Amino acid sequence: MAERFSTSLDEALLAKFDRYIRRHDYRNRSEAVRDLIRKALIEEDWEKGREVVGVISLVYDHHQRQLQDRLTAIQHDFYRQVVSTTHIHLDHDNCLEVVIVRGKAETVRSMARRLIAVRGVKDGHLTASGTGRGLP
Ligand code: NI
Repeated sequence: MAERFSTSLDEALLAKFDRYIRRHDYRNRSEAVRDLIRKALIEEDWEKGREVVGVISLVYDHHQRQLQDRLTAIQHDFYRQVVSTTHIHLDHDNCLEVVIVRGKAETVRSMARRLIAVRGVKDGHLTASGTGRGLP
């Protein structure tokens, strides 16, 4: 069930918000407000060390010695957090690996840090996500 609430904003702030809505392709203010609220709550879940989901992406050269073994070893250290791993061969030399993880925010962060710091990883990111309603 959806509840309505009204908010007062000064004109300049509302005008800025309406431009933000157009730039981000929202159809209306409600959808934009919902997303911003969820974003704030997800951010708080990460800050407070709650259960979260995330995506770790890694680009690396598979010719680099022992790199693949190290990445696999780290994922085994965190096997409880790994939901799924996808590997694609980007070109002759480079691989892209995407690891979907869930668990306590700090555990997920430390796993991402370790993977990204492996020598030979050219690009690494942790995308912090969640539902905004907390995870069991
Ligand atoms: Ni590959």
